[in-house]
Amino acid sequence: MSQPRDNWSSNVGLVLAATGSAIGLGNLWKFPFITWENEGGAFVLVYLICIVVVGLPIMMAELLIGRRSQKSAVGALKEAAGPWWGVVGGWGVLAGFILLSYYTVIAGWSLYYFAQSIGWTFGGYPAGMAAGDLFNEQVGNAGLQLALSLSFSVATIAVVYFGVSKGIERIARIFLPILFGILLLLLVSALGMSGSGEALGFIFRANFSELEMSGVLEALGHSFFTLSLGMGAMITYGSYISRKQSIVKASGAIVALDTLIALVATVIMFSVIFSVAGMSDEVSGSPVGMLFISLPELFYTAVPFGVVLGPLFYVLVALAALTSTISLLEVVSSYVIDEHRIPRHKATVLCGGAIFVFTIFAALSFTGTPFLSTLEIFAGKAGWFATADHFVSNWMLPIGGFSITLAAGWFMTRNATERELVDGTEPRWFRYGAWRFFIRWVAPLAVGAIIVAVILGRDFS
Ligand code: TRP
Repeated sequence: MSQPRDNWSSNVGLVLAATGSAIGLGNLWKFPFITWENEGGAFVLVYLICIVVVGLPIMMAELLIGRRSQKSAVGALKEAAGPWWGVVGGWGVLAGFILLSYYTVIAGWSLYYFAQSIGWTFGGYPAGMAAGDLFNEQVGNAGLQLALSLSFSVATIAVVYFGVSKGIERIARIFLPILFGILLLLLVSALGMSGSGEALGFIFRANFSELEMSGVLEALGHSFFTLSLGMGAMITYGSYISRKQSIVKASGAIVALDTLIALVATVIMFSVIFSVAGMSDEVSGSPVGMLFISLPELFYTAVPFGVVLGPLFYVLVALAALTSTISLLEVVSSYVIDEHRIPRHKATVLCGGAIFVFTIFAALSFTGTPFLSTLEIFAGKAGWFATADHFVSNWMLPIGGFSITLAAGWFMTRNATERELVDGTEPRWFRYGAWRFFIRWVAPLAVGAIIVAVILGRDFS
């Protein structure tokens, strides 16, 4: 080994970086939409239960596997559970590669809407512009899509290039407080709107007659995605935790913050939507509709201080996305760094470049480019973008997550996991026996149910 492994400088640094990974488009884009689709209340409650009984135990499992070996996904799983488990790590690295390839495209849209909203703030929102047309125009413009996703990829590579403490942690330390601040401003403004009462009722009043079994599985699947679990991202971040830090405390904080932010984002969006007559019918059948079609116009027509909050909102989306894309790239780069002994700078540029090749496919998925936009491997989905999303959400994360529960619960010894979790730094509420029960029984059964549902034809993407 050449240099000692770069570590998070403190528990706060770790929590901010991992929370940055967890908070992303899943919180701002997907969670509000699936809450909408599943009629709120009961769905939100089930989601919260999934986060606690499945998400939290797996978060601890991933972090502990990483810290124990001080290696990234592949090496860590090999060391924790046996040589064959490297395959599970490799599966995770592949998931990171694929997910990053299209996540960057959505992230790029936030840059476009940021630029547009600055224009609207100073020039006024164009009267009579159909919001859907603007969206279709931008996703259909190949040159624009490539420029946006290239910019985002370069930003991601630039952060990971500088490593863990000087790149990823530093960016998280600066951006997350800004992100929290913007959300708070938006929340205050949204709560002052006439629809906020209806929004809170929709989100927090549980009516179980509206919840279907498929909603339960969707909540479960999303609890994985939103916490960045199931693909070794948290194993990788765990490998930079020093022995002095508490995995249990950090996991609790990361999970709590991610959940809080998802709920706040939902309250904000629904308050706006319920404040405008007829809007709730208009929010079209896709998450894209809410974030990039309905909201832009509403900021300029309905939201108090919308001319300032509009651009800030898209800054928020971009920052949330960036702290997730750097974590995705880190999963892939750290594998190349640790297992193939390639220096960080070179590895980051190589991996980022290779992923960008697939980002090109994703970026052109909506442009009508022959072949790329029409490649419909999975019935009716648009190009690489939707195909990749289908594969990652339905197959890669659940299978990865299931394997990780087995590794931590059944293949690692009790001694090994207990030593990581119970080391004098753990908070008083923590019971090792409870964690072990959840990771051996509850989590694998729950995640297994998702896999069975997918085999039976459900689609969670
Ligand atoms: N958690 C991210 C979000 O909510 C998405 C995500 C899933 C992710 N797996 C990841 C991000 C792994 C970074 C690393 O948007």
